[in-house]
Amino acid sequence: MTQTDAAATANGPQQKDTVTLAEAGSNAEPIELPVLSGTIGPDVIDIRTLYGGTGMFTYDPGYTSTASCESRITFIDGDKGELLYRGYPIEQLAESSDFLEVCYLLLYGELPNAEQSAKFSNDVTYHTMVHEQVNLFFRGFRRDAHPMAVMVGVVGALSAFYHDSSDIEDPYQRMVASYRLIAKMPTIAAMAFKFSIGQPFIYPRNDLNYAENFLHMMFAVPCEPYRVNPILAKAMDLILILHADHEQNASTSTVRLAGSSGANPFACTAAGIASLWGPAHGGANEAVLKMLEEIDSHDRIPEFIDRAKDKDDPFRLMGFGHRVYKNYDPRAKIMRETCHEVLDELGVHDEPLLKIALELEKIALQDEYFVERNLYPNVDFYSGIILRAMGIPRRLFTAVFAVARTVGWIAQWSEMIEDPSQKIGRPRQIYTGPARRDFVSIDQRS
Ligand code: SDX
Repeated sequence: MTQTDAAATANGPQQKDTVTLAEAGSNAEPIELPVLSGTIGPDVIDIRTLYGGTGMFTYDPGYTSTASCESRITFIDGDKGELLYRGYPIEQLAESSDFLEVCYLLLYGELPNAEQSAKFSNDVTYHTMVHEQVNLFFRGFRRDAHPMAVMVGVVGALSAFYHDSSDIEDPYQRMVASYRLIAKMPTIAAMAFKFSIGQPFIYPRNDLNYAENFLHMMFAVPCEPYRVNPILAKAMDLILILHADHEQNASTSTVRLAGSSGANPFACTAAGIASLWGPAHGGANEAVLKMLEEIDSHDRIPEFIDRAKDKDDPFRLMGFGHRVYKNYDPRAKIMRETCHEVLDELGVHDEPLLKIALELEKIALQDEYFVERNLYPNVDFYSGIILRAMGIPRRLFTAVFAVARTVGWIAQWSEMIEDPSQKIGRPRQIYTGPARRDFVSIDQRS
């Protein structure tokens, strides 16, 4: 498809053609459906008149061929293995930007100038503390509660604290809620970690940048000064950039659907955290490490490759495959390079799990089963190795993913709220249950 001039889509998708559906459903007359074009990527068939014109729905479990919305935030080309945030390639942002600058880009659509960057960083920094009452929520959890269970609970509870930024019709309140969520997620994730190991919560520090502050809140203790390792802070900042947004993935679609009813952004973000937790989605980074630890040695790799190919075995090669990428996930490439840098910096040269991961990747990418299905490593395949090397426990990996993805969720939520054509999301179904029948009293039942 030729690249439509970006200006041409400034006012939304442009109709370029129509398709005709002949003799569809109860309607003897053919029906014409518009074909719309965006800036780049596949055209879409606008089916909004389909049910009215034919009495039929489309059917697309898992939305493999469905565009649920118009968005200007993130673009993925699965065949090329390309990821753009507001048009900027992820490789360039990873190389030259930082997480808060990427947050600004995702929220506002342009990279900030020096003044905008300083103000945004200051505004987020001064929202990093949580209300002192929030600390009490943690007391209700068992110490061994999964951090994602804690995050769902505590982030949802923020709805009860910030009534002054939950009116979604007020752009100012939407902005304050966005800043609060981006700022407080690292604080809450670090509190979940501290609570799980019985250490006191560490307050955020305004003299540290976002990634430094996150590591400081996780690893500092009140008894002595803590120096953030700049290499690890840079690695964390990069991990946050790579995980910040990813088009209409499961958790982002969850946030959009929750938000479409008018629910407040804190509750919508809690819904996104819940969806991200699944092992098929953000929970995969934790599952990858568990899998690598289970494989444990090179000579067991063929056994796990065979299990992943066995249709009777529910085991899947975690960190492999993707709904959209049918090529290498560009984030996985960057993550693999960072892996070597972080391990070298930490003097962890013979990390056995990295060696197993590299060998597993090599064998899988030569195996017909994976090649035929375009199964490549995704963002989760290497991230766990880096996080583990940084001293972050496996059960906190997905919470780190949630910290990063909050800006993507909120940017997409804001875009939906500001879309004048927005309405409550309400999919239909194809019904295969019993046809109408009358009630049978219990004495008549067999
Ligand atoms: C993330 O959507 C996003 O953008 C998500 C994400 C983001 O940034 O938000 O990128 C983050 O969630 C990355 C994905 C992390 N999940 C995992 O690594 C879990 C392992 N991967 C699989 O569960 C799977 O690949 C999915 C869930 C990621 C994608 O599944 P799809 O698109 O529904 O693909 P599918 O299940 O239809 O698989 C197609 C074929 C099937 O075999 P056949 O029926 O054709 O014989 O490929 C097989 C699958 O069995 N397959 C795998 C496999 N992934 C797919 N076989 C073995 N191991 C795997 N990992």
